[in-house]
Amino acid sequence: MAQTVVITGASAGIGRATARMFARRGADVALIARGRAGLDAAAAEVVELGGRALPLPTDVADHAQVAEAAGAAEAAFGPVDVWVNAAFTSVFAPFTDITPQEYRRVTEVCYLGFVHGTRVALERMLPRDTGVIVQVGSALGVRSIPLQSAYCGAKHAVNGFTSSIRTELMHRHSRVRITVVQMPAVNTPQFSWVLSRLPRHPQPVPPIYQPEVAARAVVHAADHPRRKQYYVGASTVATILADKVAPALLDRYLARTGFDSQQTDEKVAADRPDNLWHPLDGPDGHDFGAHGAFDARSAEHSPQAALARHPCVVAAALAGTVLGARGLRRVLARGQPAR
Ligand SMILES: NC(=O)c1ccc[n+]([C@@H]2O[C@H](COP(=O)([O-])OP(=O)(O)OC[C@H]3O[C@@H](n4cnc5c(N)ncnc54)[C@H](OP(=O)(O)O)[C@@H]3O)[C@@H](O)[C@H]2O)c1
Repeated sequence: MAQTVVITGASAGIGRATARMFARRGADVALIARGRAGLDAAAAEVVELGGRALPLPTDVADHAQVAEAAGAAEAAFGPVDVWVNAAFTSVFAPFTDITPQEYRRVTEVCYLGFVHGTRVALERMLPRDTGVIVQVGSALGVRSIPLQSAYCGAKHAVNGFTSSIRTELMHRHSRVRITVVQMPAVNTPQFSWVLSRLPRHPQPVPPIYQPEVAARAVVHAADHPRRKQYYVGASTVATILADKVAPALLDRYLARTGFDSQQTDEKVAADRPDNLWHPLDGPDGHDFGAHGAFDARSAEHSPQAALARHPCVVAAALAGTVLGARGLRRVLARGQPAR
């Protein structure tokens, strides 16, 4: 039977690429975002790839709307098997250039949006004792960077509340699973439509990966949700490790490099349109798709993420290397002339 999958932030970027990947294996996909142009285009792609699609215009900051969307998804496709939280917005600016209202809005979308999605998913999954929730996380939810304080705070909060819920599920011996996929920099439309007060065009901090790399990790996590979290990309692993080993040194490094590394050389108008309060792909807008403006600089694959999906292969390879090294040492020892 087809899986029922709900994805928030499904009209663009990582959510859109994830919807396509679930559609390829015939899933029924409920697509949550606000803008009609992106949602309709995402739905058409899902159908073209072999799934069924239900576009659900919803603002994830509003719990009632999210609950209504969950009901509509189940009415159309049956019990939700997988719920993916990916909806996103941000303000790129120093903390003091972000208004209290903007700060609240980012928190309500990026943090409370995940809380609302998780709540309505659990309300349905717990009584059935089955289902998976995947939180699309970020390396920036473990290690903050400058110019993204509202977003980094929200992503840290997502990790915090998800760990609490995970322990509650374990306590009640539930078979419902929740896991987080910590992402690296990904080439999505966010850098073209997020509210930015930076003088130059925002960019993901290289190395940059294509959204399909992220989507593969999300689908894998949905299939193997027992792990607390997945890291995608060697840069994610390196960032999180560096923060554990030398956090203060990393502060100094980011203070020095973090402003430039998040901007291209291209100047942008101070009043460029943004999607903080209203979608840019609304009735008068256009579909932005999954990819952002950095195709030429983005990697299609992450060897680290591929290895993380196959821990047994890694363990076998490591064991093989150790055994091989021991065998070689014995052979070399035997070959040595007696003294
Ligand atoms: N791209 C990266 O470098 C990167 C790195 C690490 C982690 N991530 C994570 O990946 C996830 C997706 O990011 P992305 O880069 O793919 O973002 P994106 O390209 O900006 O897409 C954001 C999606 O969220 C929707 N959305 C925005 N505000 C919403 C709201 N209030 N209610 C419902 N939907 C809303 C957007 O559609 P509408 O505007 O039409 O609603 C769109 O579908 C996020 O959780 C982010 O933290 C991304």
